[in-house]
Amino acid sequence: MTIEKLFTPAQRQRLYEAIPARYSCRSYAGAPSAADWASLSYAAGRYELPGTRLLLRTVDPDIFTGIVLGYGKITGCTTVAVLCASMGTPHSRIHAGVLGEAFCLEAAALGLGTCWVGGTYKRKQLEVPLQADETVLAIIAVGVPAKGSAEGHKRKPLDRLCHGNPQAWPEEILAAAKAVQLAPSALNLQPWEMKLTGERFFIDTPDRQQLDLGIALCHAELAFTTPHRWLLGDGRREPLACADFSL
Ligand SMILES: Cc1cc2nc3c(=O)[nH]c(=O)nc-3n(C[C@H](O)[C@H](O)[C@H](O)COP(=O)(O)O)c2cc1C
Repeated sequence: MTIEKLFTPAQRQRLYEAIPARYSCRSYAGAPSAADWASLSYAAGRYELPGTRLLLRTVDPDIFTGIVLGYGKITGCTTVAVLCASMGTPHSRIHAGVLGEAFCLEAAALGLGTCWVGGTYKRKQLEVPLQADETVLAIIAVGVPAKGSAEGHKRKPLDRLCHGNPQAWPEEILAAAKAVQLAPSALNLQPWEMKLTGERFFIDTPDRQQLDLGIALCHAELAFTTPHRWLLGDGRREPLACADFSL
């Protein structure tokens, strides 16, 4: 499976429409209903990219710890998705970002809250059987939101995220840039740099934040309507990702 083939047209539309509604929910009123849990399990199983997988788990709400840069502790959450990546598989961290964010948007489409959690949880309380080269990159809290809304989105303006003049870009590329602007990122750093060169749309993160990059790729992919393929770079000097429309 590849990023450009990950979504059916119906999923693409549903998840794209969920982008403005998603926000990091830190206060939960309970677990998803049985029907929503079944939908999320189906989604977690269906989305596949090389070197990464999502496992759903029930947890004790005290698994979440501390306060990071003023973000409140997550409360009332008893269900999480555990995001695993195989370190030996190329681009597994980027793929994990795509998969985890697809999960968040599936949940948002169901009216559920989510929050990516990178480090502020008790790892020892998670019981996940890992393969030899696998590691847990993050967990994603999910559940019925008690409070919170997408209205508090604090985002850099588009021209700080893009090189050149994004307003002059083709509609589809501008839509992708706006979708990336709304993506979640660790500490809300929004580390993305986007540019359009001929038929190639580049997204990079200067400090190689691969999870944040994958999250951005998920949002951009959902905005695309014409055929393309993703090229993921390896070398230190290469941009990390580019959508090539010259097919
Ligand atoms: C990889 C990653 C790790 C994150 N880790 C945490 C965390 O440990 N605790 C937390 O409260 N929020 C965490 N967040 C949520 C971000 O703070 C949040 O996405 C960002 O502030 C933007 O806000 P929004 O998601 O409401 O748009 C994380 C987000 C990402 C993408």
